Amino acid sequence: MIAYQKEEPRRSPMKKDMVEQQPGSPSPEVATATNIPGMLSPIHVTRTFLPPREEYLHWLDKAYSSHVLTNNGPIHRELEETLRQRFDVPHLRLMANGTLALQLAIRALGITGKVITTPFSYVATTSAILWEGCEPVFVDIDPKTCCIDANLIEAAITPDTTAILATHVYGIPCDVEAIGAIAKKHGLKVIYDAAHAFDVTYKGKSILAWGDASTLSFHATKLFHTVEGGAVVLHDEGHDRELRLLRSFGHIGDDHFSLGMNAKMSEMHAAMGMAVLPYVSEIVADRHRCMQSYGEALADHIERPRVPEVGYNAAYYPIILRDAEQREHVQQVLVQKGVHARRYFYPALNTLPYLKTQVSCPIAENLADRMLCLPLYHGMDSLELKRVSDGVLEGIIAFTAQK
Ligand SMILES: Cc1ncc(COP(=O)(O)O)c(C=O)c1O
Repeated sequence: MIAYQKEEPRRSPMKKDMVEQQPGSPSPEVATATNIPGMLSPIHVTRTFLPPREEYLHWLDKAYSSHVLTNNGPIHRELEETLRQRFDVPHLRLMANGTLALQLAIRALGITGKVITTPFSYVATTSAILWEGCEPVFVDIDPKTCCIDANLIEAAITPDTTAILATHVYGIPCDVEAIGAIAKKHGLKVIYDAAHAFDVTYKGKSILAWGDASTLSFHATKLFHTVEGGAVVLHDEGHDRELRLLRSFGHIGDDHFSLGMNAKMSEMHAAMGMAVLPYVSEIVADRHRCMQSYGEALADHIERPRVPEVGYNAAYYPIILRDAEQREHVQQVLVQKGVHARRYFYPALNTLPYLKTQVSCPIAENLADRMLCLPLYHGMDSLELKRVSDGVLEGIIAFTAQK
């Protein structure tokens, strides 16, 4: 599916090597720890993939040998270049996390004033705009893909608009061609928040090939991770130089060029990335297996966002319930079974209480009320998948019967 992947896929470690990331609050009859006989283990929305310990140690040993632990060390450089080649992009810079990646991409591109953005994403997409002193202008989403509706963008452009910041939400690509054409016509910069889009391809290329910049998150909950981390992809040499300065206090040696900050990734984090990377193809393939299992059980009963013709990375399994009441009911039935689905993404970002102006985005608000992301991670077994899909069906049937 992913034509540009070059690494040899590795066999994954045993399931015991994976850890829970999102503890949630299991109901009383569900064990809080795994492997208690007779008790059901909680199933969280995601479970971090951990490579075999000795493979991580191999990379840590390299850091011990070099005695370089940060500041663009050898493992950092190797991960940066490996990812750049993997995505076939001109510039890729590792960052301390995906939020700083967004903030510094906005700065490196010189974006000011109003930024057209999506109301349906994780809060970091909006907070990065605000943190950089810009004003988010929310444009509603396409109900089919849940990405920003490109048909509504032009009407929102004013003389103060300088950029579009859109999210490939759940790893589903935005309408990159339409957005690119609008940006060109109006002289706007385009940044894609590609936090969910690692290894997604569109028209045979990495989705990161579109826009002036794309940002990635390598948080432990993502399918490729460095514990905490992220990256910015850029297409312009000048932007790349600016970003490297911003990431590292704005100076090179004793020469100071611009106001910078510390957004560097350490060698220990890059080491985790190098240890996880050989498993990514297998992780994605296994997530597709889980998606297929859910699809077989649930397709006739639930709505889902539409994934267009792309090389999809199976980053999330969102389901759309009939209304907020049904979503709440299904979520509660799942909790009773020890299944912790999450409301990704709620609230619609145009309703955040600290925004200066409130606008209405009815489609995003409606979907934020009805959306639930089911657990999806490498190594889910058939019993776990069945527990989740049975819970969803039971919730829907019980809710319908009550009405
Ligand atoms: C769409 C989106 N953007 C940005 C971020 C922020 O990334 P990080 O947690 O690495 O700071 C996330 C994190 O989960 C995200 O989902």
